Amino acid sequence: MQAIIAFPTDIQSTRKGFDFAAASVTGVDIDPELVQQAENSFALRASRVRPATSDSERIVDYFPISVVLEHGYRFEPRTNIASQQDSELATFPEWPRVSFFSGDWVTSANRATEGPYDVILALSVIKWIHLEHGDDGLVTFFRKCASSLAPGGYLVIELQPWKSYERAVRPGVAPHFMESFRKLKYRPETSFSALLQEHGLHLCNESDALPRRISVYHKA
Ligand SMILES: C[S@@+](CC[C@H](N)C(=O)[O-])C[C@H]1O[C@@H](n2cnc3c(N)ncnc32)[C@H](O)[C@@H]1O
Repeated sequence: MQAIIAFPTDIQSTRKGFDFAAASVTGVDIDPELVQQAENSFALRASRVRPATSDSERIVDYFPISVVLEHGYRFEPRTNIASQQDSELATFPEWPRVSFFSGDWVTSANRATEGPYDVILALSVIKWIHLEHGDDGLVTFFRKCASSLAPGGYLVIELQPWKSYERAVRPGVAPHFMESFRKLKYRPETSFSALLQEHGLHLCNESDALPRRISVYHKA
């Protein structure tokens, strides 16, 4: 499985490569500092793995964090986030190939993050893209998701409700969003599925088990 974890700024995201046995994971975030944090989190977790032996499988989270802090990383976090093609971790075939990139995924044309991917995760991010780039940017984002998926692939999104947009444009929070917000015509609850369908992505599953709805779209 090839997955792109869009916006991998939390440790949970770096876990997914291990826990769902992805062969390859690509993370993208606009903020280089957060990308560096993701690098650090991943290196820490990779350093805690006990590799497989002839009589036992690989064990994730085997060594305590204290061991890594005391004796050092087995895999140093990379600091040059601009050139990540030759990942040290990628030389271990039993581990996912993991690469992180910093950039605006809507506007950037980085061939290394073009896909095709089997799964794209866009969690807690579409609102920010929508506010930053407006309705046109939202459509560009959905088009890019569709074209970056392999046939049969899935886009998993977290639906941030319109009410959460209203909270994001409170005075003093992000002044430049206010003007963009006033012009938005598309609404998450009523427009997203139709827009995605125009790009060949069909809603196939939804879950309200988490505080925000998770929707899964399938590329036929
Ligand atoms: C609320 S955080 C969500 C992080 C993570 N996906 C999660 O679920 O915990 C939103 C992230 O999206 C990133 N972001 C916003 N706009 C972006 C864009 N156009 N391209 C890439 N990343 C973007 C921000 O830097 C931020 O790290």
